[in-house]
Amino acid sequence: MASSEQTHGTLSARLTERLNKLLALPLLYKVLFANSLVILLGATLGTYLATRLKDTNSLVVLVGFVLLGLIISVVINYALLKFALSPLTRLRETMQQAQAGDMTSKAPVNGFDPDADALAKTFNTMLAAIDELSKSRAIQILHAQEQERKRIARELHDETSQVLTSLLISLAMLEESVGSEAARVRIADTRALAHQTLRAVRNLSIDLRPSALDDLGLLPALRWYIKEYQQQCGIEVDFSASGLKERLPAEMETAIYRIIQESLTNTAKHAHAHKAWVTLTEGATAINVRIADDGCGFDAPAVLRTPWQDRGLGLGGMMERASLLNGSVDIQSQRERGTTISVRIPVKRPPHPVDSALPTQSESQVAR
Ligand SMILES: Nc1ncnc2c1ncn2[C@@H]1O[C@H](COP(=O)(O)OP(=O)(O)OP(=O)(O)O)[C@@H](O)[C@H]1O
Ligand SMILES: [Mg+2]
Repeated sequence: MASSEQTHGTLSARLTERLNKLLALPLLYKVLFANSLVILLGATLGTYLATRLKDTNSLVVLVGFVLLGLIISVVINYALLKFALSPLTRLRETMQQAQAGDMTSKAPVNGFDPDADALAKTFNTMLAAIDELSKSRAIQILHAQEQERKRIARELHDETSQVLTSLLISLAMLEESVGSEAARVRIADTRALAHQTLRAVRNLSIDLRPSALDDLGLLPALRWYIKEYQQQCGIEVDFSASGLKERLPAEMETAIYRIIQESLTNTAKHAHAHKAWVTLTEGATAINVRIADDGCGFDAPAVLRTPWQDRGLGLGGMMERASLLNGSVDIQSQRERGTTISVRIPVKRPPHPVDSALPTQSESQVAR
């Protein structure tokens, strides 16, 4: 009994193996095999029926046979071609996903058809290469943009600010040397205007690229930015940072700074908020940033579904910056219940021999 079950099991395993081998044939051979099978069946049955029907000479049976043969041939060909072409259908679906911007999709490689598998592998390799190329292009563009901002900021600070300062000194000397009271008042007004312009130019220069970000690091730059933001926008910001042991790579500091800047700008522009919270935490494997506000909130999925041509660049830019550092951005927002943006960027610190002995940079402040 047990031995007959064993024989049955071995037989079905062999059959499955044969069937898999048959299915693994290239598309050309599958079609050839199926059509040969249809022709063989048709010829054998046709010959058999022709000899049987010679006496009866029944035209109806003959027509029936032809029709049946046709239907069987169409059904077998349809089923086979549908099965054989299914990898191409899946490849087309993957192509459509890639065209819609999802570069993470992959064409399935399932070992059923060597030709289709080779096509899918080639397509996947091409997709990975395009993804890699577009990532490195985006990194280059962002780098060039930051460099250009740095250059303009320096030029504004070194050139324009110096000229305005000289102008202020000349005006002060002129004010003292003129005798007429009316002329002195006019010069004083002009000096106030020049002073205002100088402050605006300095602010613009720091806003473009705070030198603190390069010279002192992320935390001092953020502290400066949040202080200015509160004064200009009238929104209280609760800022806290913990776990940051030492400076992060430059591109990461820039990305985090710009993401927080864009989030707080959005809060000021769209949220009608009274208060915002910024939290920066370095964990064992990642930097976590959370920017929240108590504003009006918005329908984030709907905004993100809108084609990029029809919406602002801020949220997309944040996601792009995070994804270029293999990070992610999560946006939670509810009408009248505020918005919370959570960013996670993986970070790899080289092992530090006296790691545990180092104090961590930690702070909690309401920068005013
Ligand atoms: N904190 C927020 N509170 C309320 N609505 C927001 C908030 N952040 C974003 N939004 C909504 O999401 C939309 C898209 O934001 P995004 O930053 O991408 O573009 P934008 O701010 O309109 O333009 P840009 O950033 O290019 O100057 C905004 O127009 C706004 O409607
Ligand atoms: Mg914006």
